[in-house]
This record gives sequence, structure tokens and C-alpha cells, in this order.
Amino acid sequence: MHILHVVGARPNFMKAAPVLRALSTHSGVRQTLVHTGQHYDAAMSEVFFHQLEMPQPDCNLGVGSGTHAQQTAAVMIALEPVLLERKPDLVLVYGDVNSTVAAALVCSKLGIRVGHVEAGLRSRDRGMPEEINRLLTDQLSDLLFTPSADGDENLLHEGIDGAKIHRVGNVMIDTLVRLLPRAKEKFPSDVPTPYALVTLHRPSNVDDLPWLAKLLATLADLSTHLHVIFPVHPRTRERLEAIGSQPSRARLRLVEPLPYLEFLALQSRAALVITDSGGIQEESTFLNVPCLTVRENTERPITITMGTNQLVGRDLEKLRAAANKILQRAAARNETKNPGTAGVPLWDGQAAERIAQIIVRAPVEVR
Ligand code: UD1
Repeated sequence: MHILHVVGARPNFMKAAPVLRALSTHSGVRQTLVHTGQHYDAAMSEVFFHQLEMPQPDCNLGVGSGTHAQQTAAVMIALEPVLLERKPDLVLVYGDVNSTVAAALVCSKLGIRVGHVEAGLRSRDRGMPEEINRLLTDQLSDLLFTPSADGDENLLHEGIDGAKIHRVGNVMIDTLVRLLPRAKEKFPSDVPTPYALVTLHRPSNVDDLPWLAKLLATLADLSTHLHVIFPVHPRTRERLEAIGSQPSRARLRLVEPLPYLEFLALQSRAALVITDSGGIQEESTFLNVPCLTVRENTERPITITMGTNQLVGRDLEKLRAAANKILQRAAARNETKNPGTAGVPLWDGQAAERIAQIIVRAPVEVR
């Protein structure tokens, strides 16, 4: 059986790595890895392949950046001949980025079976490009691997045949479980505690420059209470340069995007995380680190029900108040570390092996 994986953007390297590993232990499985090139900077791509011990891609489509239509179309045009030449039995796509929907669309037109890893997540906000990508990819997929029960419910509600849906758990947590001990060894010695860890890259936060400036000013205010470490995504870096002057506070550190292990190390010991990323909401839930999400909605509602994550929307007062409350609670406990895991069912490091079992057990039944 020949399985071809398509990855393109940073969060999906962490999802594909454990699936590649799990499938490599099954006999009779041949694998091909295609990188679309959606993310191309060494800090956004190469370093992840290295730290996650992923094989080098068999093929890099080199599509780079562009508008949504340009990027999606470029992946489709470059991927089609690769699929025609390599003739995989199944293509695995990951997450919700433009590379994901582009690959699913090409496969479905060529009659190649598609498996979607991280299926069924919904924010119900079609203003987010990722929501469009999720809806379409799931409609086009033959195998839908969901991380949690809400994913199954969303898919059934959209009329997807229950026989295609497999609740396997969270592959990103597989990577976290495997690499957390190594990440802890990488904890930088010069980081003062307590600290907040911040990431912001969604268009809704960073493309609205007046809003981004206000957010940054709020982070600067927060840095009077604790250190704030903010690894800056290239998209955000561009926007910050457009804003020009930035608040200079000694305890607010804007740094380059971090490799996986270094970021995970910081996340595991953060007093709080402020983010608009989907994956970080999940990782902080697993790590039991309080997370404030600067969005009006989330496609990962389980992170809210587990009690670690709060949506603060576009309300800076809410952000300030929630951050203060988290810090007061930590001070009352006289600690900033949050031990233990919150225990989401199937977020146990074995999701990729479940996917592999399903694929090798039912190679002819999936369409
Ligand atoms: C993409 C995904 C988003 C995911 C994020 C993780 C879509 C629609 N969005 O957003 O879901 O959360 O990746 O990072 O697929 N750039 C570089 N170097 C790179 C990559 C990007 O400088 O290696 C800059 C370019 O200016 C580019 C911009 O970042 O235009 C945005 O990159 P793009 O891949 O389009 O979207 P992301 O914001 O990264």
C-alpha cells in the first residue's frame, strides 16, 4: 500500500511526524512525503523537520506565499502531476491550511482516496479561511480522523457517513508526549520566571493595524507584572514593521519564531499563554497551563470545557482582567507551574498508531 502525505505549514509538521512514524512500523506500507512549500523559511519549516526527526520530503512543490487563490491554485497545479506519476493508494492531509484543502480537491478529482487527520473541527466562523478549508476538506475525504467527540458530532450534523469517521485522538499531542522530556532539557537558562508566552498571527489580529497596536500596548502593560515572551511569526513581524514604533519595555521580549522544542519548553513552564493559534490552545490544555485566546470563537471547544482555555475575543479589558486573575490565583498557590495533565480522552500519545491500524486494517474498504 502506497501512502502519500501532504504537508505545507508549520503546525502540520507536528501532526504528520507521528503518523509517518507509526505507519513505518507496519509491513507492506510505502510512504511518500510531499511538502507544498507554503512555509519555506528555515525557522518555519526546516528546523521542525530536524527536531521532529522527520524524513526529508521526497518532493517540495515550492509554492511559497500569495493570496489565498494564488496559494491554493499553485498547490493544486504542482501537486497534480506528482500524484499522476506516483499513483498513491491513499493521500493523507492534515489540519486546515490552504495546502490541505488544495490537496484534497486534487485527489478527489483524480479519484484518489483522501484521509483527513484532524477532521471535524468547527469554529462556525466562515470569516476564517481555515473554516472554509475544514468544511471542504471534510466533504472531500474518505477517511475522517477526529481528535475529540465534538468533531464526530459536527461531521454527522453535516451529513457525513458515520462509517467514514474514526475518533482517534490528537496526533499533535502524540508529538508533545514523545518530545516533552527532550524539550525540558532545552529550557533556556536566561528566562526569568514568572513569564507569559504570547503568539499572534491570525489575520483578524495582525492585519488590523490599529487593533494590533492596542494589543501590543496591552502586552506592554502586562509586562509590568511579569515578563512577556513573544516569538513573532513572519506575517506579524511585517505588520509590526508597518506600525513603526513599538512600546519598549524591558520585560516585553519580541523574539524570532522558535523551534518546536524550545517553544514547547517555554510553554510547559509559562504562568500563562496568550495566543490566537489553534494548536497552542490544545497543547496548553494538555500541559494544564492557563491560556487566553484572543479570538471570538474556537474550533477546539474541548479546551474551554476542560477549563484551561478562555476566549477573550476583542476585549482588551477582558484580557487584562483574566490575566490578572490567573496571576493572583498562581500567587495564592505560591507557584507559577501547573503540574499534571487535564486528561482529554484519547489525547494519550497513541493517536497516530490508531490511524495506522485503521489504514492497514481496512485498505480496500475506505471508499
Ligand atoms: C498559515 C495558515 C494558518 C496557520 C499558520 C501557521 C492558511 C490559510 N493559514 O497562516 O492556518 O495557523 O499558517 O503558521 O493556510 N511567511 C514567511 N515565511 C514563511 C511563511 C510565511 O515570511 O516561511 C510570511 C509571508 O509574508 C506570507 C505570510 O507569512 O505572506 C503568511 O503566510 P501564509 O502561509 O500565507 O499564512 P500564515 O499566516 O502562516
